[in-house]
Amino acid sequence: RTGRRQNQKQCWPRTSDKNFKTVSVNAWVEESEGEPGLVLGLRGEPYWLLPGKSGGIRNFALRAECTHLGCIAPWNEVQQKFVCPCHGSQYDPDGTVLRGPAPHSLALAHVEVVDKGNARVRLSAWTEEDFRDGAAPWWS
Ligand code: FES
Repeated sequence: RTGRRQNQKQCWPRTSDKNFKTVSVNAWVEESEGEPGLVLGLRGEPYWLLPGKSGGIRNFALRAECTHLGCIAPWNEVQQKFVCPCHGSQYDPDGTVLRGPAPHSLALAHVEVVDKGNARVRLSAWTEEDFRDGAAPWWS
């Protein structure tokens, strides 16, 4: 487990476009083993890609930076939550804040599968209502 996490960090996909990042769906699904996995999105910020309920990936990603003071909030397999190591904020698998001091849920980005042949993923800005609470997105 520890080894895989280290590898995961070293293998974060890199920029392939000035506006968004692309990663291979198949490679990601294989690497993630059914758990959230970090990629660098948009302008280099870390995002969690999320495993789909029946394979593949979900159509939204979560910004990995805790909404309190910006520590990376890792996925805790045992608790099935994102738990921030800095001051203990917790988020559910959709990034909804469960426990402060974080004031907000994790920011969202859209995930689209583009270039069907190579099944690459593209992250793009989420400017619409936050589906988790129906509010305007606090991050845009
Ligand atoms: Fe995450 Fe403070 S930075 S709880």
